[in-house]
Amino acid sequence: KGNSPMRNLISLADLTPAELDHLVRRAVSFGRDGIVPKPLAGRQIGLYFRKSSTRTRTSFWSGATRLGADVITFGPNELQLTTGETVEDTARVLGQYLDALVVRTNGDVEEIRRLGSSQDLAVVNALSLDEHPTQAIADLATLTEQFGSLDGLHLLAVGEGNSSGAALALAAALTPGLRLTLLCPQGYEVPKDTLDLAAELSDGKALVTQIVTPGEVEGPVDAVYTSRWQTMGVSKENPDWLGDFDGFQINRGFLERFGGPQTVFLHDLPAVRGEEVTDEVLDGPASLAWRQAHHKMTAAAAVLEWCVAGAQD
Ligand code: CP
Repeated sequence: KGNSPMRNLISLADLTPAELDHLVRRAVSFGRDGIVPKPLAGRQIGLYFRKSSTRTRTSFWSGATRLGADVITFGPNELQLTTGETVEDTARVLGQYLDALVVRTNGDVEEIRRLGSSQDLAVVNALSLDEHPTQAIADLATLTEQFGSLDGLHLLAVGEGNSSGAALALAAALTPGLRLTLLCPQGYEVPKDTLDLAAELSDGKALVTQIVTPGEVEGPVDAVYTSRWQTMGVSKENPDWLGDFDGFQINRGFLERFGGPQTVFLHDLPAVRGEEVTDEVLDGPASLAWRQAHHKMTAAAAVLEWCVAGAQD
């Protein structure tokens, strides 16, 4: 292990605006210049994914390797946590072998905080029930790369107020000048606690608004963002839930109604084509979804470098 102190990235609410800005700009620079230095040579990164993942797990693995680290992975049933060892004891032990543990869990941020209780182990939230912080870093990197700056941009996030929406709300609260409108069907909103936290983080200056009908959107917007309605592939309890999302699909008509010629489309993926987005939009000229997927890896590398090597401007 090196001498620099370990830092966790468990919730964006733990970051200062300058720290989030650093991570976003670092991800952009990794996307532009490649990941050339190897500041994590000799370091060990664990990936503990209790839920399925295509992008986040692979991008952390790829990012860690490009930074020079070695990677070990744990599936949902491979640690003694499943047989009753405590979270704190697990963290204490893993901290003796690993520099960082990247965790995707079925629980909330507080469960990941308990894993982050060891001074010797940096813990990264790779998606909890309530927040997807590294996704938001990739999202802001994609927008920064496209527009040069986030200042003055209006981002419209449409669909279920899931962990990606919550992370965007916190990220927007830490990013002066970025306006975020969350358009979520009634009953599927970003939790009020998260919006209150966003307001608190920005001393009430956050440009974050939640609305429940498309008619309330004040366009044109610079970017339209959506996410799978069946978050983590789980359908809703109400068998008729799909009807609640009528008018929320991102199709050509939606982009024409709320966007302009420069408006871009983002999707955190995976997509259910034909449900929350049409093929025409996802594969069309406005779509940055695939570049956004690339920035999952540059964001992962920026986060690992910051957590383990202590990188900061
Ligand atoms: N966007 C995202 O988190 O994708 P995965 O679930 O595939 O990691």
